[in-house]
Amino acid sequence: MSEFFNKRTLNPRLVHLLRPHSGDAQRYQRLRLAVENIPRKTGGVVVAIASPSSGEGKTLTAINLAGALAQNPASKVMLIELDLRSTQGTLKDYLGARKWSPRGVVDGVVEGLGDSIADVDAEGAASSAQIDWQQIAHSVPEFNLTLIPSGQKTESPYEVLNSPQLERLINQARLRFDYIILDTAPVTLYPDTQLISRWVDQFIVLVTAGMTSRKELAACLDLMVPEKVLGLVFNECQHADGERHGY
Ligand SMILES: Nc1ncnc2c1ncn2[C@@H]1O[C@H](COP(=O)(O)OP(=O)(O)OP(=O)(O)O)[C@@H](O)[C@H]1O
Ligand SMILES: [Mg+2]
Repeated sequence: MSEFFNKRTLNPRLVHLLRPHSGDAQRYQRLRLAVENIPRKTGGVVVAIASPSSGEGKTLTAINLAGALAQNPASKVMLIELDLRSTQGTLKDYLGARKWSPRGVVDGVVEGLGDSIADVDAEGAASSAQIDWQQIAHSVPEFNLTLIPSGQKTESPYEVLNSPQLERLINQARLRFDYIILDTAPVTLYPDTQLISRWVDQFIVLVTAGMTSRKELAACLDLMVPEKVLGLVFNECQHADGERHGY
């Protein structure tokens, strides 16, 4: 287990990491099956968890889905935190990893990502990458998972998500992993999810009981490519504090 988090620090709702055989965890198996059934072309499948607005369960679902897929020891599963907006309820918060200040997506994009496979450009010249894959992809063997957190804060999420370096990061993930699960920012609040759509094979859209209105859902779906929506998940989200998360 990482020195920064362990089973005691994890959010108790991460049922697929804490109690994978419990009834609560089994609910994610259906989602796992849907993802495992996505036809593979070349490399791993990229699946993003989306929702119309904030606090609808994207991060929790992304981690639990990744945990469910990782139950198969033969599967290589990566979770990438591509919600660069959230200030609370982050991957780090869910893991309870308070002292963890990992490098991640933003660091890979800002500093330039290289690695042993793709470190040479088309002309054969060595790239000037400042940071390598191992520095942003954090392996957690206990859960059979590899995590890329959002990393350093950025004031320009749009530029990060729109960058060729992000495409490079996703392509490298596809080469190394079977399933790449993306946590994302709310669809109707930011253009981020539309921006990353080109790198995503399928989206799972969360709809939350007593929270998501039909209007919000319609607005969300209008912003998405219909063929890329794998399906809707009705999340019966119970908030500990009784409030929605705000941005
Ligand atoms: N199925 C569920 N059962 C119980 N609680 C849930 C469920 N899904 C989400 N929650 C709770 O709802 C809150 C918001 O969940 P989460 O952080 O995953 O939402 P989010 O969509 O990622 O939010 P944001 O857009 O702010 O990042 C958390 O307190 C989480 O524990
Ligand atoms: Mg979130």
